[in-house]
Amino acid sequence: MTTRLAVIPGDGIGPEVVREALPLLEWARGRGRDLTWDIYPWSATHFLATGEILPEDAFIELRDHTDGILFGAIGDPRVPDGRHAEGLLLRLRRDLELIVNERPCRPILDAHLPLKGVGAADLEIDVFRENTEGPYCLKGTTEPDRATDLAEHTEAAVRRLLEAAFARAADRGCPLTLAHKANVLKHGHGLWMRIFQELKAAFPGVPARGLHADALLCALVQDPRPFGVIAADNYLGDLISDLLAAFQGGMGVAPSLSWAPHHPFRCAALAEPVHGSAPDLAGNGLANPTGMCLSTALLFRHLGWTAEADGVVSAVAKALQQGAATADLGGGLGTRDMGAAIRAQLPD
Ligand code: NAD
Ligand code: IPM
Ligand code: MN
Repeated sequence: MTTRLAVIPGDGIGPEVVREALPLLEWARGRGRDLTWDIYPWSATHFLATGEILPEDAFIELRDHTDGILFGAIGDPRVPDGRHAEGLLLRLRRDLELIVNERPCRPILDAHLPLKGVGAADLEIDVFRENTEGPYCLKGTTEPDRATDLAEHTEAAVRRLLEAAFARAADRGCPLTLAHKANVLKHGHGLWMRIFQELKAAFPGVPARGLHADALLCALVQDPRPFGVIAADNYLGDLISDLLAAFQGGMGVAPSLSWAPHHPFRCAALAEPVHGSAPDLAGNGLANPTGMCLSTALLFRHLGWTAEADGVVSAVAKALQQGAATADLGGGLGTRDMGAAIRAQLPD
């Protein structure tokens, strides 16, 4: 069956970096993959012009008739309450049940690491961030003299996230660390701890421990080498993944894939870089497309296209090793030339 993808460039630098990922789809097709894609306009600009965020029929089309989504970035100062981000990206994560947000940290060049004595080859960390709940349930109140944000955690989502994290650690033969604040968040993170303890018994081969998230951040900066898989709730996982972006060269490099381990719908994956819409860079052709290209590789891997995934990762590595770099990496290339430098290294 033909693989159908949906491409949503979104806001700010999103369209600029997605433009460099589309040739990777063409390359995969040229290698014989039966692949088509449609490009959708959902974004702040579209919302401001039409009032539409993600129409219901479009959501159903994505859910039931595509195999994955490539997403650029969302967020625009012209929509300060971020309602289109909630109705588009957060809705897709939640309503497609993309519970796992996998954010790998695989630095490529030693020079990209800001830590003394730690080399790129020393780090192989996978963040498994719960992607649909916690404070992202978006339930809260603003009153004249107080404000609340509810953080909701369900047994079903936490179990799915932790099962996937344990399975990855078992597969890699590496340790698993759960980031939590169960010392304060007794209810929500109490539930995380209970399920974590149960799964620890079910995966006796995985060295697994919980760490208070504050102490974990300190340990990660002092020496990230002992870490393998890090599981975290939505909020802590968001913070940890940006710290790990700094170990890969910065926001422009870090990739992510949101996926549904239980595959409830035809569309069970959304690839997006960790970075946002970078309004400070947008429109200048300076954004680094590397995170977007590596996210596309994660989507290829999810589709079972291992050779294509490996091909993109090795092309990025070769381009960086040969000195291709955008300004955030200390180089002089713009987005288009960086994309071309990566493409030039793709295998046949
Ligand atoms: P950001 O990731 O957009 O930018 C943070 C810093 O990283 C900026 O200095 C930016 O210039 C730099 N940066 C980001 N991507 C880069 C790239 N590809 N190449 C080079 N430099 C890059 O985060 P922010 O400034 O906190 O947020 C801006 C907007 O993006 C907000 O509306 C926010 O909500 C949104 N956001 C969206 C996503 C997403 O779509 N998944 C992720 C994060 C933030
Ligand atoms: C990310 C972003 C999003 C998040 C924002 C844009 C809602 O920071 O993908 O990491 O907090 O999940
Ligand atoms: Mn984030």
